[in-house]
Amino acid sequence: MSATSLPYPNVLVIAANGKTGRRVVPLLEERGVRVRGASRSSTPAFDWTARETWPAALEGMDAAYVVYQPDLAMPSAADDIRALTELAQEHGLRKLVLLSGRGVPEAQVAEQIVADSGLDWTFIRAAWFSQNFSEGEFAHMVRDGVIALPMGDVAEPIVDADDIAEVVAASLTDTSHNDKAYDLSGPEALTHEQLASELSDAVGRVIRYQPISLAEFRAGLAEAQVPEEYIGLLAYLFDVTVSGVNAAPTGDVERVLGRAPRSFRAFATRAFSEGALAV
Ligand SMILES: NC(=O)c1ccc[n+]([C@@H]2O[C@H](COP(=O)([O-])OP(=O)(O)OC[C@H]3O[C@@H](n4cnc5c(N)ncnc54)[C@H](OP(=O)(O)O)[C@@H]3O)[C@@H](O)[C@H]2O)c1
Repeated sequence: MSATSLPYPNVLVIAANGKTGRRVVPLLEERGVRVRGASRSSTPAFDWTARETWPAALEGMDAAYVVYQPDLAMPSAADDIRALTELAQEHGLRKLVLLSGRGVPEAQVAEQIVADSGLDWTFIRAAWFSQNFSEGEFAHMVRDGVIALPMGDVAEPIVDADDIAEVVAASLTDTSHNDKAYDLSGPEALTHEQLASELSDAVGRVIRYQPISLAEFRAGLAEAQVPEEYIGLLAYLFDVTVSGVNAAPTGDVERVLGRAPRSFRAFATRAFSEGALAV
């Protein structure tokens, strides 16, 4: 696509070094978009907890990929998303693509704020990311060989961050995705027992799933001196997931990209071959 036909030639990517952001940046650049990647460590910096950093990040942009930290379920999220949306309008941005969660009422509040603003929008409601096991919070469990989580035997249609990034890039380069919400999942729902088995096959040694209670999970995090606010957030998100509201796979990756979503098996094999799975 030539830069002149791009609907949003200048795009801010928040959390550009994160699991989806780092994948969105090259996809946009390949299409000729000028990207400003931002996080607390970029120049200019963007920090959700320091609003004085926001104007410099938004200046000169046409659209933004908005990744909230740590999660839209936090009590601070609605105010922050409202303030960012208003500032984005003041700076002449025309579209926000919001990374959202599935089955989380607080995320829907944030979505509504953006939808009511008059800006163009696309909402990306993602299942849990496969990359949590390679780049995220669960990577150390893969290394230790025990995935101890309060997931019971509920199945989650875990999604590949590469698929999310492709949908985000499409949403920022093609206006046919404006004012649409996509529920992104992988091709099948897998229990953590099954995820552990796929990871075991990929790395060639046994990684087992150990179901634990929410209370045990919280106690483990407290012992590791994780802040109470973050423990509460994780416990809440596990609670939502274990309720099973998000267990059904969706067809939205295929609807947007015209091909099936990547499987967890393919993710695990690729991550291991690239040295991204801690072993
Ligand atoms: N992980 C999942 O399974 C999942 C599933 C569905 C939805 N989500 C949503 O995806 C979003 C991203 O979650 P994630 O945990 O996967 O993170 P992530 O996208 O991997 O982003 C991590 C990056 O965010 C930056 N960051 C941290 N605090 C920041 C702040 N206060 N201001 C600006 N940047 C900050 C950090 O870079 P610096 O250190 O350079 O600032 C870090 O590298 C969340 O809104 C979450 O609700 C996640």
